[in-house]
Amino acid sequence: MESIQDGINGILRPIIQADMETICQIELECFPIEEAATPAQLMDRFNVASDLFLGYEINGKIVAFICGTRSNDNLLTFQSMYEHAANGKTLCIHALCVTSNFRRQGIASILLKHYIEYIKQAIPSISVINLIAHDYLIPFYEKAGFQCLGLSSVVQGKFSWYNCQMIL
Ligand SMILES: CC(C)(COP(=O)(O)OP(=O)(O)OC[C@H]1O[C@@H](n2cnc3c(N)ncnc32)[C@H](O)[C@@H]1OP(=O)(O)O)[C@@H](O)C(=O)NCCC(=O)NCCS
Repeated sequence: MESIQDGINGILRPIIQADMETICQIELECFPIEEAATPAQLMDRFNVASDLFLGYEINGKIVAFICGTRSNDNLLTFQSMYEHAANGKTLCIHALCVTSNFRRQGIASILLKHYIEYIKQAIPSISVINLIAHDYLIPFYEKAGFQCLGLSSVVQGKFSWYNCQMIL
């Protein structure tokens, strides 16, 4: 996608290889170790689906990102965290991360909104977006247009995950 000025003070832009060290650091800052994707896992995702990474830059630094891969499953599965189906109809969002200094300023909401618009326009073969979330973030995703479909089959870390889905 093209870079976009968001109207506040950030720029939405594609993630490039040179950003990946920062992306790995943000992932580790944002998730407990048992939930975080490893740098190798993030690099694998980037290598097969760099078009499904979107960053948010302030003063020349990436402070937030969202990323996903494609799948043919109806819901986000454990397997879909490790595999990318190049023509899959489903987008699985694996991470939406904002570094702690920049939270509660609407950045995640902006990233998610632009990401969904970009997917709709650029990749019309994607018809479903899936993600998993802990209970306290379900209202955030519902406000963004997702529907909660109950407990996920994914077990990772200490707390339950819930399926959130948007049909495009
Ligand atoms: C969750 C996260 C992405 C939110 O980023 P953010 O930029 O602070 O989110 P926004 O400012 O767009 O939040 C919009 C609304 O979502 C809700 N929200 C945001 N963070 C929340 C939280 N931790 N708990 C409950 N509700 C939350 C609030 O209603 C908020 O509105 P408010 O600030 O007016 O109260 C960020 O806290 C983060 O990176 N957390 C660690 C990683 C993570 O859990 N990612 C999501 C799962 S993939």
